[in-house]
Amino acid sequence: MARRNREAPFEVIWEGKYDGKCRRRRPVPQQPVRLRSVERTGGPSPNRLVLGDNLGAGSALLGELRGKVRLIYIDPPFNLGRDFQARIEVDGYATRDIPAYSDTWGPGEESFAHMLWQRLILAREMLTSDGSIFVHCNDHTSPMIRGLLDDVFGPKRFLNEIIWHYTGGGRSRNVFSNKHDTIFWYAKGPRNIFRIDAIREPYKPTSGYAKSGIVSRAGKRYVPHPDGTPADDVWDIPMVNPMAGERTCYPTQKPLRLLERIIAVASNEGDVVVDLFAGSGTTAIAAEKLRRNWVVFERSLLGVSIARHRLLVEGARFALMHDASLLRSSPKALANIEQQNDTIALRDFSMSPEPLKRTGNARSASLVSNWGIGLRGSEGELTLSSWAPDNQQLIFKTHQKHQSFVRIVIYDVFGRRWEQTAKKQGNFMVFESTVFATV
Ligand SMILES: C[S@@+](CC[C@H](N)C(=O)[O-])C[C@H]1O[C@@H](n2cnc3c(N)ncnc32)[C@H](O)[C@@H]1O
Repeated sequence: MARRNREAPFEVIWEGKYDGKCRRRRPVPQQPVRLRSVERTGGPSPNRLVLGDNLGAGSALLGELRGKVRLIYIDPPFNLGRDFQARIEVDGYATRDIPAYSDTWGPGEESFAHMLWQRLILAREMLTSDGSIFVHCNDHTSPMIRGLLDDVFGPKRFLNEIIWHYTGGGRSRNVFSNKHDTIFWYAKGPRNIFRIDAIREPYKPTSGYAKSGIVSRAGKRYVPHPDGTPADDVWDIPMVNPMAGERTCYPTQKPLRLLERIIAVASNEGDVVVDLFAGSGTTAIAAEKLRRNWVVFERSLLGVSIARHRLLVEGARFALMHDASLLRSSPKALANIEQQNDTIALRDFSMSPEPLKRTGNARSASLVSNWGIGLRGSEGELTLSSWAPDNQQLIFKTHQKHQSFVRIVIYDVFGRRWEQTAKKQGNFMVFESTVFATV
């Protein structure tokens, strides 16, 4: 049922949007969650990777972000009613499926609609008056999501329905194979950024226009643009293939090229870009490459740790923030750090209980994703100064030698994080204990 309201000339109603007294439920909670800055990498920066539910964590940062964000991209779950797994490699050969995130939304479509509607209102609050939002959906969710976007932004703010077309994978014998996702683009206000020249596509080699241009009947000559033709609303971009360098184990990872295109066309250098459903952090990586500032939210521990790892590889400056209430205590982690002059090595890493004991013989040490060393500030925030993938050796840097305390951080492939402080005695680190604490 649709009816008029004062904010937009169109409204979508679902069970739960209004309370028993016909009052519209408050979309953004009054009590935002408390966020803690856990780690800083590469010096001061406004860029943030936030572990937390996007509604509570986004509301916590709303005071700062309100009206400041030029572009928001969201790739929410698609209401598929199933849980997604990530395939990890164990001991260099075997694979295991581990939980990544859940896409189940209680009874009926209403809970999914209500969840997304609340986030869209939060997103609208964050946008600048000339900001815009790209919402990624599939063919099942797109009708409902378009209704929600019309409800929150108004049908007049609709800019495009972009078809992201890809190939690969199986082919159906019963219906046309589904080889596209839909991305809706809406503006907050009457004006928006559109830098079409930033994403021109080379002319097809067969195009006569590309070679010599065309002359209209009126005699006006159109010459080809040196960068190619303006992109239209069907984008042919391959999915991230299993062998691609950018590929992570995160199940619904989107291609960097797709995000680079969105960011390049709808924001300027130095603008703030937000992703409320960051997954493996593709938006943050693309924004980093294109010199935009970014704030991304994700509630899966695995997603956040993959995003953090990708950002470290990218050499990004950013802060990692946690909604502390989300963190459950992890198994006990034990480690020995061995130091030889200027190198340190992570030895005998073990977890109790062993996380994969019942399904295989993987040793905990092979489950280390990366580890690092840094200094701990008075607020408990770690300033990471060097890190290494797997459990490879680290260089002990001169400035760390001059500190009284250093701190080691370890991540495993499930996205869990442990820390332990070491006291310095001369050039050597002395650990109070081999037990590392969950952070
Ligand atoms: C389709 S995936 C996004 C994938 C991402 N675009 C990428 O390239 O990796 C959707 C993500 O939204 C996250 N998510 C779902 N509900 C959330 C919430 N309320 N707050 C924060 N993240 C949420 C899920 O954990 C999942 O990682």
